[in-house]
Amino acid sequence: MKEKLEQIRREALEAFDPASAATVQDLEALRVKYLGKKGELTNVLKMMGKLSAEERPVIGQMANEVREALTAALEERRKALAAAALDHRLAAEAVDVTIPGKQHHLGHRHPMYIALDELKDIFVGMGFTVLDGPEVELAEYNFDKLNAGEGHPSRDWSDTFYFDTDSRVMLRSQTSPMQVRAMETMELPIRIIAPGRVYRKDEVDATHSPMFHQVEGMVIDKGVTMADLKGTLNTVVEQLYGKGTKTRFRPHHFPFTEPSCEMDVQCHKCGGVGCATCKGEGWIEMLGAGMIHPKVLKMAGIDPEVYSGWAFGIGLERTAMRRFKIADLRLIFENDERFLEQF
Ligand code: PHE
Repeated sequence: MKEKLEQIRREALEAFDPASAATVQDLEALRVKYLGKKGELTNVLKMMGKLSAEERPVIGQMANEVREALTAALEERRKALAAAALDHRLAAEAVDVTIPGKQHHLGHRHPMYIALDELKDIFVGMGFTVLDGPEVELAEYNFDKLNAGEGHPSRDWSDTFYFDTDSRVMLRSQTSPMQVRAMETMELPIRIIAPGRVYRKDEVDATHSPMFHQVEGMVIDKGVTMADLKGTLNTVVEQLYGKGTKTRFRPHHFPFTEPSCEMDVQCHKCGGVGCATCKGEGWIEMLGAGMIHPKVLKMAGIDPEVYSGWAFGIGLERTAMRRFKIADLRLIFENDERFLEQF
């Protein structure tokens, strides 16, 4: 039995060598093999009963020594493996703090939305509510309820995007249907602006796009007059383009306003003398406006004998172009970073 114990010790210590016990799992298998309940050492101890009384303590002591030696060797090897595993992880997860970081490119508001935010701020400051409305609109709201019935030229297939053959559903060609939607849903008096996309069958060029943005504005109350319209718009223009900026109102026609007008702003470039920016005019067209037609009020269930109102519609791209001196409308939609970075 002595020889057997010696053999176990030799074999086991050899087996705990890094070559054969390369992993924690290897080591556990070896522990079971030599020190486990059915392990080799236990097997030897089970035969102790067959020994003589003199031999038993000697072999017993030796067996304990072997067990201690194996346990100690096993523990040592386990620690070495754990340390190696830790080293490995530290190396694998090492962070080189000297490598230059990845630059994050932080964007900013699009120039057109900067212009819109400025407009919103001005109107909200005057007590207006900002409304959002559908781009896919009923012709009834885009035309009929705005006093542009059957046969009105703007309803033509070559002017308007329809979804159906009987021309009932369309991409709105103006934000003016929001006037009607506000009249139908809001309590009087009403003060709203409604920005959003509109669509027309236009070819793309430096000043046109089949999709562009408008901001609709409307006030309805008792005793509202054209003077309120002019006063409000003059205030807005001065806030946008600086104190003393001059405007002029020219007669115009829209089916849903009466009287109607267009408002021009004195050219910011030449101060009204005439230059390339204003095409020699001295003035730049800015928006359409007018007093809401009594028929439109009536169709929305508002008594034109009691209430009156005004409305305007302003092109947002053109406002941004003037605000930031952008020469070509296409730049606003192309989203070339070299362009956008400048604002
Ligand atoms: N909707 C008109 C257009 O697109 C602008 C407008 C709005 C005119 C409100 C008068 C009142 O040209």
